[in-house]
Amino acid sequence: MQLKLLSLFGGIGADIKAAKRLGVKVKTIDYVEWKANRVKAYNAMNPFRYETQDVRTWDLKPDILVHGSPCQDNSAANLNDDKGRSELLLETIRIVKEMGEWRPKFVIWENVRGALFKAKLPIFNEYLKDMESLGYTNNFNIENAMDYGLPQTRERVFCVSILGNEKFDFSKLRKRPLRSMNEFQQCESEIKNIEKYVVNIPSMLTRLEDLASPEEIEANKSKFRYIKTITETCNTITERPDRCPAAGVFKMKDGRYRYPTEREWWRLMDFDDEDFDLMLDVFPIKQHQRSATLYALAGNSIAVCVLEAIFEVILSGEYAMQSEEQLQLIC
Ligand SMILES: C[S@@+](CC[C@H](N)C(=O)[O-])C[C@H]1O[C@@H](n2cnc3c(N)ncnc32)[C@H](O)[C@@H]1O
Repeated sequence: MQLKLLSLFGGIGADIKAAKRLGVKVKTIDYVEWKANRVKAYNAMNPFRYETQDVRTWDLKPDILVHGSPCQDNSAANLNDDKGRSELLLETIRIVKEMGEWRPKFVIWENVRGALFKAKLPIFNEYLKDMESLGYTNNFNIENAMDYGLPQTRERVFCVSILGNEKFDFSKLRKRPLRSMNEFQQCESEIKNIEKYVVNIPSMLTRLEDLASPEEIEANKSKFRYIKTITETCNTITERPDRCPAAGVFKMKDGRYRYPTEREWWRLMDFDDEDFDLMLDVFPIKQHQRSATLYALAGNSIAVCVLEAIFEVILSGEYAMQSEEQLQLIC
């Protein structure tokens, strides 16, 4: 079987990475992403030369559609904003409608948990209702990357809609044992220009959990969350390591604290070092500066292992496909 992949809101392509991990023969037939640096990152890890494209002008006929639509205005900080990028998930409805008679067998949507909070729920409910009226059975669940082996707390909503009356059973996803943080953390001796990763700005230092007394932590409990020192797991990887809420910091041998490096950030999203090495060619890291681009590219992506587990169930043969031989996937 050859998977024909289409990447919608494609970012750096956690989807193609997950398909490749499963050893599935995969070919991308199109990729839609409007930010130039993400297109550049995607092209560097794959044998393609895509240009930027806006999803709103896009038109194709896949069997599987995966859309990790933009989620910034679904995050807890932006819950009062009731219009914006989160509504781009409704673009997918338009795209499916415009396919005419054609319907992809599976539509998979990924987003932050905030998409289910009260202020944003009407958009998600509208999506579910529209999908039902297009003939889909929807099932959604919050999945944590940690249950799939990554030592990162990353809870995301995954909604799998199947054309017809079949349900997607999230309990079939294959969970994996937690991997050790040692596999993800770099030795200090191998980190080039380590000083640029050291936490030295007062606004971050005052939030380090290790440096605060239990009384301070208790007093500030309702105001902010202290930044944890990473041991076995980290908190959610975001667009940047130096903003709260933060993924966490590592304690250094000399007692200071440092942010995770760009490489550790990519590893913690379940990308391989060989992917990251390709990134260094297209986005070289400056000697005295951390690379905002490399952090943001990974932080916006989907934890590869969770998509991999979902694809594994979908591709297990349990569900009838329209065209077994030429499965098309849109991500
Ligand atoms: C949450 S990220 C998805 C990341 C992706 N799944 C990955 O593996 O990296 C959403 C992406 O949608 C892109 N985007 C937002 N609006 C878009 C539009 N109108 N057309 C195409 N891409 C868009 C953003 O630049 C961002 O990379």
